[in-house]
Amino acid sequence: MLAIKLTLLWVTIVAQTLAFPDLIEQLTANGATQLVSLIDAAGLTDTLKSTGPYTIFAPVDAAFSKIPAADLNALKNDLQALKDTLLYHVVNGELFTFDLRSREHVASLNNHQIRIYNTNGHTYFNQALATKEEIQASNGVIYLIDEVLNTPEGTVWQILNNPDYNLTMFANTVKHAREDTRLNSTTSTIRYTVFAPTNEAFNNLPSTLLNRIQTSYARYIADYHTHRGTIHASSLGKDGSVTTMFTGHLIHVTHDPDTQEPLLNKLGHIVIQDIEADNGVVHVISHVLIPSTLAGIIG
Ligand SMILES: *[C@@H]1O[C@H](CO)[C@@H](O)[C@H](O)[C@H]1NC(C)=O
Ligand SMILES: *[C@@H]1O[C@H](CO)[C@@H](O)[C@H](O)[C@H]1NC(C)=O
Repeated sequence: MLAIKLTLLWVTIVAQTLAFPDLIEQLTANGATQLVSLIDAAGLTDTLKSTGPYTIFAPVDAAFSKIPAADLNALKNDLQALKDTLLYHVVNGELFTFDLRSREHVASLNNHQIRIYNTNGHTYFNQALATKEEIQASNGVIYLIDEVLNTPEGTVWQILNNPDYNLTMFANTVKHAREDTRLNSTTSTIRYTVFAPTNEAFNNLPSTLLNRIQTSYARYIADYHTHRGTIHASSLGKDGSVTTMFTGHLIHVTHDPDTQEPLLNKLGHIVIQDIEADNGVVHVISHVLIPSTLAGIIG
């Protein structure tokens, strides 16, 4: 009799342990209220409550407050964009911490890549830091993150040609250098980080220099602004250097003593960071970077 009682007790405890709340309940319990309300607005609540399993990279409320109010409102009023954003934060299946291999990618429900990066015991998904890992739910796993992920806006080359970013002069330089095909490729697993100077940055150069940069020296300039691999702005927090496709030529990273913002070659700052691409990431920068060995030749 006693044995049976003990068995029943054991079964009860196990059953309770296994009965995790569902993903939506866990998001709510962990304070991701903005995300839960956006999921609801997008009509995705039932899916995330009763199907799965899924892994959710869940921006906390503070992550949404980093987005300018106007942008957040625009997102709320565009159902397709909202769904795209939300689905980019969800992956099929359960990813536990031991599944997360640094520098690998996982595919979101809308079939874009999310990069995993591990450094000093911290895990990043794209540019976002995981602030709480592996919250288990009955139908999946949640990682809380400190920033909203930017949905990829096409290839690096397509971003350079998006008129909204004012990068056409750099795009022309890349085209002249015949690097456009490389920066438009999604077939290889190679990724690129491009530091793309604005048109204004090009127009601030003396005309002779501008002309040379866009013609005979286009290849060096295009390659010098391109790093092979993914570097999000969150990885530029320390002084150091970035290798470029112009072999042997580095971009030096220091920090503005007042703002702590990264400075490239002591003068260029990042105007728009972390524009996500399907084959890398683009940062819009304020200055054209001239490799030191060319300064005398083309200056
Ligand atoms: C692009 O240039 C226009 C006109 O100079 C400016 O109003 C706009 O803010 C710029 N866009 C970006 C993303 O810098
Ligand atoms: C860039 O790649 C996309 C597909 O990833 C393709 O649709 C587009 O035509 C390509 N553009 C150029 C200029 O090659």
